[in-house]
Amino acid sequence: MSPTLEVVLSPAEFPSLPQRDLSQSVCVVFDILRATTSMITALANGAEAIIPVGEISEALAWREKRPDILLAGERDGLRIRAGMAGGVDFDLGNSPREFTPEKVQGRTIVMSTTNGTRALRACAAAKTVLIGSFLNLRATSNWILEQKPPHLILVCSGTVMEAALEDVLAAGALCERVWPIYAGGHIADSAEIARRLYPLMQHNLLDAMKSACNGRRLLANPELRGDVWLCVQRETLAFVAELQSDGAVRKQKAA
Ligand code: MLT
Repeated sequence: MSPTLEVVLSPAEFPSLPQRDLSQSVCVVFDILRATTSMITALANGAEAIIPVGEISEALAWREKRPDILLAGERDGLRIRAGMAGGVDFDLGNSPREFTPEKVQGRTIVMSTTNGTRALRACAAAKTVLIGSFLNLRATSNWILEQKPPHLILVCSGTVMEAALEDVLAAGALCERVWPIYAGGHIADSAEIARRLYPLMQHNLLDAMKSACNGRRLLANPELRGDVWLCVQRETLAFVAELQSDGAVRKQKAA
C-alpha cells in the first residue's frame, strides 16, 4: 500500500468516516479551540481518562451509571447548565484553564462538545485515533515518524458545520513534520492546502486567531479570551494521547 496522507477539512465529511474502512488508518483529531486542547490539558493535569460523547443525554447516562465521574462540555461555547441537561449542571465547561490539577487529578471526565467530541466519535473505527493539539504536536508527530502509518488522516473538527482555520493550521503544522513519510506516496490536495497555509501564519498564531470565526467569538468574551492564548502555545507538553478501544481518551504509556 503506498503511503497516503489526507486532511478532513470540514465537519461535512464526518458522516462519511464511519462508512470507510479505517482499520489500517491512523486519525489525528484537532479541535484546537478548544475540545482537544482541553483534553490534553486535563490529561497533563492528572485526569485518568476522558470519555467523549456526542449528546448531552449520553453524558447524563454516564452520570447515572457512575456518579463519581465529572461532566464537562459546552453548547455555544458555554458550560452546559441544568436548563439544557435535565436539571444537572455540568461540573466543567470546555475551557482548558478549568481543567486544573485540583479539579481533575485522578478523575474520569465525560465530555460533550459541539464538534470535537463528534469528530472523535466519527473516527472511532480507525486503527488508532490520536488527540491533536498545538501543545503536544511534537510528541504526536514523533510518534507518527516512528510508526510510519500507511494511511494518515488528519481530522479538523471545525466550527458547527464549517471548516475552522485553527484546525487546518494545526493539521498543516503536522503535515510539514511528517511530509517525508508520505512524499513518495499519495498526498491529497487537502493535505497540500493545509501544509501550504501553516507557514503563512505560523509566526503569530494568536493574531491568526482573529481571522478565525471561533477565535473571534472567544476573544470577544472576557471570560474566555485567555483560552485562545493557551490553545496556540506550541510544544509545552510531551505526551501522546489516544482514544482507546473502550471509548476513553488516555495518555499513551511510554514505550
Ligand atoms: C467544539 O467542540 O465545538 C469546540 O471545542 C467549541 C468550543 O470552543 O467550546
